[in-house]
Amino acid sequence: MDLLVIGDANPDVLVFGAPGVPPYGQAETLVDSGVLALGGSAAIVAHGAARLGLEVGFAAMVGRDAAGDFVLDALKSAGVDISACVRHESLPTALTVCLNQAGGDRAILTAPGCLAAFGPEHVPRIAARHVHAASYFLQPRLAAGLSGVFRTARGGGATTSLDTNDDPSGEWKLPADLVELCTVLLPNQAEAAALTGAGDPLPVLAASGAIPVVKMGGDGCVALSGGDRITARPPVVEPVDTVGAGDSFDAGFLAGWLRDGDLRAALALGAAAGALSTRGAGGVATQPDWAEATAWARNVEITSTRDA
Ligand SMILES: Nc1ncnc2c1ncn2[C@@H]1O[C@H](COP(=O)(O)OP(=O)(O)OP(=O)(O)O)[C@@H](O)[C@H]1O
Ligand SMILES: [Mg+2]
Repeated sequence: MDLLVIGDANPDVLVFGAPGVPPYGQAETLVDSGVLALGGSAAIVAHGAARLGLEVGFAAMVGRDAAGDFVLDALKSAGVDISACVRHESLPTALTVCLNQAGGDRAILTAPGCLAAFGPEHVPRIAARHVHAASYFLQPRLAAGLSGVFRTARGGGATTSLDTNDDPSGEWKLPADLVELCTVLLPNQAEAAALTGAGDPLPVLAASGAIPVVKMGGDGCVALSGGDRITARPPVVEPVDTVGAGDSFDAGFLAGWLRDGDLRAALALGAAAGALSTRGAGGVATQPDWAEATAWARNVEITSTRDA
């Protein structure tokens, strides 16, 4: 197997054209449109990586409910190996509602359901070339044992990556031993700043030995490796919806990385895959296949400077 993805899976219920504050008092508010889509950072990464042609396994917990059926069906249809997914006896599958406003901003309401029950003991010992974990702060039991999972993976010769995503508690505590076991860190700009408390988070994150790749929305991303600060600027697209762009970026980055370990090529593929995913509503509808991603990656502008 090329890639084992560990983490969250849930349906995303997306509504577009929502008012800033929906009126209460049992008022029914009509919005422009709504979509049910595969969500959860890890699930979107796994789906995107399978679409790019990787052999992908997924380890996650869902409930014994229609929401769990929905996410597992979507992943299976994309070719993801879901045999390691477990179903909680009584707790529901996590569920997210996204209220998207006209300007592109959104409120994200997540009911974590069984995510808090998912732990390292549910992660199978599958031999994979790379292990990626997502949504660290939504899964406290997994988080407590993730260092052990990554230590085993690295000991077996695999590389590792982590996309923490947001920390709803606002604490942003990432153990040093876990960071040292990450080959690549994949936060966005706000997350990198919150994790390090630094104006320039890249050197702080790189001090652990990991390669930080910081995502910057329409501006692309910046990475720091061996003293080279490398920026990848995606082609201009007219985004319909940026939900899951960071996760689709992760999928593209990992597909490039696993190809031959070329960081610049991986950044270009990540930026292209992230940008292409914004063409449709939800995280997975417009994720590119390998041919489309590589064609667009040729139009990603890569620049690099030496860090002083
Ligand atoms: N408006 C946009 N135009 C073009 N590309 C975009 C746009 N927004 C995002 N992307 C692409 O997607 C990548 C990741 O986006 P972003 O920085 O929003 O990640 P994120 O905050 O982790 O996203 P997520 O909401 O999925 O967690 C960017 O590096 C870029 O390549
Ligand atoms: Mg993200």
